[in-house]
Amino acid sequence: MSDVLILAIESSCDETAAAVVKNGRDVLSNVIYSQIDLHTLYGGVVPEIASRKHIEKINQVIEKALSDADVTLNDIDAIAVTYGPGLVGALLVGVSAAKAISFATGIPLVGVHHIEGHISANYIEHKELEPEFMSLVVSGGHTHLVKVCDYGKYEILGKTRDDAAGEAFDKVARAIGLGYPGGPKIDKVAKSGNSEAIVFPKAKVDGSIYDFSFSGLKSAVLNYLNQAEMRGEKIVTEDVAASFQKAVVDVLVEHSMAAVKENGFNKFAIAGGVASNSALREAMKEACKNNNIDFYYPSPIYCTDNAAMIGVAGYYEYINGVRSDFHLNAVPNLRLGER
Ligand code: KG4
Ligand code: ZN
Repeated sequence: MSDVLILAIESSCDETAAAVVKNGRDVLSNVIYSQIDLHTLYGGVVPEIASRKHIEKINQVIEKALSDADVTLNDIDAIAVTYGPGLVGALLVGVSAAKAISFATGIPLVGVHHIEGHISANYIEHKELEPEFMSLVVSGGHTHLVKVCDYGKYEILGKTRDDAAGEAFDKVARAIGLGYPGGPKIDKVAKSGNSEAIVFPKAKVDGSIYDFSFSGLKSAVLNYLNQAEMRGEKIVTEDVAASFQKAVVDVLVEHSMAAVKENGFNKFAIAGGVASNSALREAMKEACKNNNIDFYYPSPIYCTDNAAMIGVAGYYEYINGVRSDFHLNAVPNLRLGER
């Protein structure tokens, strides 16, 4: 069989990204224009600014992805694009660009689910990894425990009832004065803090053992800060960061291990921006080792938003015969496994 080349486009949040992926596993190029500096000024992503910047950057990013891969559109077999979930205006920029190229060239179009992309990032550096396996997707917008039954076939076992894990990192970081995006900053300062200094409550969720809740933890951190301030106590940022991070990591590890074991799996993969957290990686590595589970995680560049992961997911959809037509639209609340 001849090689299959996918041109992938991702613009669901604040990264304008394009990539070329060969046969679903080899990344020929991976171009990411991050808007983080722009949004830092406002302490979070401003949707309107994100959309405008995507429009400014999308063509350059796509052209660079093709030239970095040393290919032209004539070599491309399909165009994969994230069509949800995400910010509607941001998604629309990528979807419109993909549809325009597809319309002008006749190259088939494949709409891809953003979370499917995050999970698929694991295939890039673990050529031996194949479904089925258990996956934890932890990003700024999502906290999902997902059973990967096959390529393109997913079952959601649990998710957050309120804030996503990354959102909790970002909000707590803001409260302790670290700024946006909070995840990497908390990760860094926590290294010199004591994770046992403050005991924050573990969130309990009624009903499903696989669901998560992080808003209570966030409030506990805010209460701690207010009370310490009222009592005139010194707040040790490093300790607050380390103790908060530990509370998040403990819950993620506990629920993930329960899901892997109770479903009889022996493979587990993490994905999404928070999957690059060093404490989470260490704790998961340890837990998997103790339970005889093979543990997979992508390099940080494939954890946060990128188009290579969309190219991987798009490849498997494409070879399974999935095609999108020109009615493809941005779907902000797209559910995993839905088309
Ligand atoms: O996957 P992603 O780039 O975008 C979404 O799809 O949401 O994830 C971004 C999120 C942000 O909340 C960011 O603070 C968090 O991932 N993040 C981290 C780390 N790096 C990024 N959280 C904890 N530790 C990190 N090292
Ligand atoms: Zn993402």
